[in-house]
Amino acid sequence: MGGIIGCVGNGPVCTVLLRGLNRLEYRGHDSAGIATVSDGSLHCGKDAGRLDEVCVKQDLVGLPGNAGIGHVRWATHGEVSRLNAHPHLDCHGEIAVAHNGIVDNHDELRAGLGGHRFLSQTDSEVLVHLIEDHYQPGVPLEEAVMQALQKVRGSYAVLAISSREPGKIVGSRRECPLVVGLGKDYNFIASEGVAFLEHTRTVAFVEDGETLVLEAGGARFIDEAGRERYPELSNIDWKWDQATKQGYEYYMMKEIAEVPEAIRRALDQDKAVVLDMAMNILRARQVVFTACGTSRYAALVGRYLFSKLAGKFCDVVMASEFHYFSDSIDKNTLVIAISQSGETADVIQGVKKAREKGATILSMVNMYGSSIARMSDRTIYLNCGPEIGVAATKSFMSQLAVLYMLAFTMANRYDEGVQKVTHVSTQIETEMKRNGNRLQRIAALIKDQHSCYFLARGINFAIAAEGALKLKEISYIHAEGMPAGELKHGTLALIEEGTPVVVISPRDFTFNETLANAAETKARGAFVVGVSEERHAIFDEWIEIESSEEIFYPLVTVVPLQLLAYYSAVVRGHNPDQPRNLAKSVTVK
Ligand code: AGP
Repeated sequence: MGGIIGCVGNGPVCTVLLRGLNRLEYRGHDSAGIATVSDGSLHCGKDAGRLDEVCVKQDLVGLPGNAGIGHVRWATHGEVSRLNAHPHLDCHGEIAVAHNGIVDNHDELRAGLGGHRFLSQTDSEVLVHLIEDHYQPGVPLEEAVMQALQKVRGSYAVLAISSREPGKIVGSRRECPLVVGLGKDYNFIASEGVAFLEHTRTVAFVEDGETLVLEAGGARFIDEAGRERYPELSNIDWKWDQATKQGYEYYMMKEIAEVPEAIRRALDQDKAVVLDMAMNILRARQVVFTACGTSRYAALVGRYLFSKLAGKFCDVVMASEFHYFSDSIDKNTLVIAISQSGETADVIQGVKKAREKGATILSMVNMYGSSIARMSDRTIYLNCGPEIGVAATKSFMSQLAVLYMLAFTMANRYDEGVQKVTHVSTQIETEMKRNGNRLQRIAALIKDQHSCYFLARGINFAIAAEGALKLKEISYIHAEGMPAGELKHGTLALIEEGTPVVVISPRDFTFNETLANAAETKARGAFVVGVSEERHAIFDEWIEIESSEEIFYPLVTVVPLQLLAYYSAVVRGHNPDQPRNLAKSVTVK
């Protein structure tokens, strides 16, 4: 995983490439590198570490040339080291290759490349040596890349440059994204448009199995059969400064602050599309949500809403497990795939399987033109702008907003749904202003604990799970979220003096039962943090939420939990934007 970028223009590309990589580093990385071509020579600098450290250590800023490729690596095969960092070079230092994805048959390919000198432990290095084998005199680089990739099994987005053909970048992809950006001074190819938004918003998507030849004068797309394709150009409706911190210390805080606006933008959809989706959901014999992580928790809320408001029962299947349930998927099934990035490998695999079985695919994604969007029969875009923090925050709220809108539409109450969710978005603004200091204090109080539990009932169970996921992924405090009623079936054994228990207990019909469960933890010494519109004697600390109708509580209870996770990470000295071992876009299975 990680990210790749290639850039070619009429002037030096080095700083443009580094800026692009800087925009991609949020995807998760532990090493970085770039390679450029100038005056018939290849120049390459790479190392382990974060991009800014590598820049200094390897003096990357000075690499000359009008064409180059760059990579931020998130290690899958081989330790984090300079030799395992990309780009990789062929035996003669003529070709440089950067790769995202996994080469499944790398062992077999490596064994067949006997005469070559391998320097790394990566699966990716086989690619450059394979290309080298096919790059005979007179053969253009794109031809060599296409021939080499015929031998490869697995997933890839790969970029190659050669000192023999300066001014040319060849790219190809299978199951990993690649988007082309066509600008005035520079042309780009990258894992996602965010890498080059400040230069151009005019994009075209490379299709699975395609090869791209990028030069300063334009781009050529070649399909698997060797035919040229002329893709449609589109515009990414994002501004590059949306992907900057805009004065905030961390992206995550900026993105939480954007929640109310993100909700309103998510609701701003073409009504006809929403009606059409709602009808499709109602008509389908069976509806299955599939998603991972936070997006799956949004699906759990969606399941509840569809049932409560429209009497439509759906199931939620974790995308990494979807495959194992596919026997029950058929042409009468509607699959709803939820994914911020639109590139999560497990979701893509599930959607592929569902398509094979003849199911209809609806998706909710944020990334324009992403793989999941392009594999779907219909897509609703979340429209929340770039989300850079690895922790999903505003995108989760946008997912919820779309699910509320759909559920109300299914109940023939579209206008009411939009109006009520818009109102809740303003309540969230009030709540954020009110709770800042309190949440910082609670974060300081729990900072040395090794475990934390989140309890809730009904529709808020998904929020307990999401609160726990947020806390553990960025603060590294072990956390579990569960239905409060499950506590006595095992977890209660772990409650001891001082264990923090966050109880999501809004004043709805679950209030008394949830508090009774909280009391059971309190009796065993728990430090109880209540999330409620009313302070209760049982709470050691209280996070005040706005009062709302029962079904809207997920919207008002989750933002304080996102903030609690944020402050916990910061007080423990961690960067909440880039948690260890995690990547924003999980493009490998
Ligand atoms: C959330 O904070 C996580 N970073 C993670 O669980 C994420 O939601 C998951 O990887 C799914 O990503 P997607 O929405 O882009 O598919």
